[in-house]
Amino acid sequence: MKTTELIEAMTTGHNMESYEQTYASFQWEEGEKAFSWYKTGKVNAAHEAIDRHVESGRGEHPALLYSDPDRTNQYTFREVKEQSDKFGNVLRKLGIGKGERVFIFMPRTPELYFSFLGTLKVGAIAGPLFEAFMEGAVRDRLVDSEAIALVTTPDLLSRVPHHELPALKHIILVGGEADEAHGFYSFEKEMDAASSSFEIEWVDREDGMLIHYTSGSTGKPKGVYHVHNAMLQHYQTGKWVLDLQSEDIYWCTADPGWVTGTAYGIFAPWLNGVTNVIRGGRFSPEDWYQTLAKNGVTVWYSAPTAFRMLMGAGEEPIKQADLSKLRHVLSVGEPLNPEVVRWGLKAFNQRIHDSWWMTETGGILISNYPTMEIKPGSMGKPFPGIQAAIIDDEGRELPPMQMGNLAIRTPWPSLMQKIWKNKAKYEEYFRVEGWYISGDSAYRDEDGYFWFQGRIDDVINTSGERVGPFEVESKLVEHPAVAEAGVIGKPDPMRGEIIKAFIALRKGYEASDELKEEIRLFVKEGLAAHAAPREIEFKDKLPKTRSGKIMRRVLKAWELDLPTGDLSTMED
Ligand code: WTA
Repeated sequence: MKTTELIEAMTTGHNMESYEQTYASFQWEEGEKAFSWYKTGKVNAAHEAIDRHVESGRGEHPALLYSDPDRTNQYTFREVKEQSDKFGNVLRKLGIGKGERVFIFMPRTPELYFSFLGTLKVGAIAGPLFEAFMEGAVRDRLVDSEAIALVTTPDLLSRVPHHELPALKHIILVGGEADEAHGFYSFEKEMDAASSSFEIEWVDREDGMLIHYTSGSTGKPKGVYHVHNAMLQHYQTGKWVLDLQSEDIYWCTADPGWVTGTAYGIFAPWLNGVTNVIRGGRFSPEDWYQTLAKNGVTVWYSAPTAFRMLMGAGEEPIKQADLSKLRHVLSVGEPLNPEVVRWGLKAFNQRIHDSWWMTETGGILISNYPTMEIKPGSMGKPFPGIQAAIIDDEGRELPPMQMGNLAIRTPWPSLMQKIWKNKAKYEEYFRVEGWYISGDSAYRDEDGYFWFQGRIDDVINTSGERVGPFEVESKLVEHPAVAEAGVIGKPDPMRGEIIKAFIALRKGYEASDELKEEIRLFVKEGLAAHAAPREIEFKDKLPKTRSGKIMRRVLKAWELDLPTGDLSTMED
């Protein structure tokens, strides 16, 4: 298993000279000096990300370079400050303040970012929702969080069941008409009327900032709750992993509906005062290469499925684009295959640096640093200040080359502080004293590099998006033809995994391709496109335990032609 393949370190790791030395000596306290709490005891992540740079004379530096197929905009730090201050005033006028949840269900446009920052500025907790969510997914999240306000567009509003959401008092429509008597406001009208003079809400480091919903193997999506203190990790990883320099042009391809799109699409670049490229619209290889070229992107953070799709598109679109400014490329979210790393070297002469973390960890914990040799296929080494280990179920640390639970010594600045309204779920992660249990299995080699092996639970990772099989199964059984459903991740060369559903039909329904398509659309329209099973197989009966739980492990073994293991708990 051990690889001898090594790709040399970049000669210019700007902020961290030697990984080993920094790892041995780093204290989180060093990074804290950058922030106001060091002097005043109070903080607000939106101030540190935006306003601080205006105060220190960098207000005219470009903060946001936005483009989509129909629109191009550029905003300086001063302009982002002004827009987010105004949005803060819009929320205040509605009486919204500290600790309340403001959700943002928007396509990736500048207004999304202004709303997000403005929400933080009044001390409220932001909940960004991925624009592809359909009604079921939106409902679950707004019900659980009891959001008081939602920023959305008239198009997306049709997927918001607002009559069923008693806590939701205010809907702010970007590009929409006001109907204030019924709680609908026009974003543009409110922003025009709002003053740009604003007093930020200073909060404590442990006050709530952000909720991201994510999937586990059982139950509905859980609200992972992060506090302002997480910014310390975003800032420091931005320096050492992203290697951000004040003149960099940085592009993170993730949507803020997912944690990468906030931690590394908002905080890390802006806390470091760096120009942030935001691209709206859909993926296309030509567009992506042109986004790199036209903006002169220097640092690029993306994901394996995207890299594989670019790889599939061949060399022609690369030749059309001037990528000469690009100097540092990173990946997250799923295993990064060695072939992709080799392709990156050949196609655009860049090492792709893998990084590992999770919604719950709030920031990068393991990665390949610019100053470090890369072993293609490895996630890299722990971030300074982070102690990672492979442990068994009793918490014993395992020696190198032995596979086990990937675990992290608690705490660290960006570790989630709660699962919203679900203490039991939160505690599951900390079931072994002193450790956070990730749910991933991995091993560490003799040189201290970590190698991802798989998920321990049934969570599916399709194109880097985390999907809980239970959510998909619950949706499937709402379809009138479906009696039982079991959902697994099936390995796929492009998407990492695809969702495969095994379905037993109700009496009176005939298996057919049309029915498969109908069921697939039912999930796509009810939940989200990325949660719809790409493959469906009808079965007379599904394997179940005597207590009636579908045995996904048996379905997976059938699918992959593996031994089914212990079947003693299966009903006959
Ligand atoms: C997986 C995304 C292999 C892993 C930031 C983890 C990875 C889950 C890597 C978290 C990587 C993340 N190599 N697998 N470099 N990075 N994963 O919460 O299974 O959307 O537990 O956070 O993605 O996904 P999440």
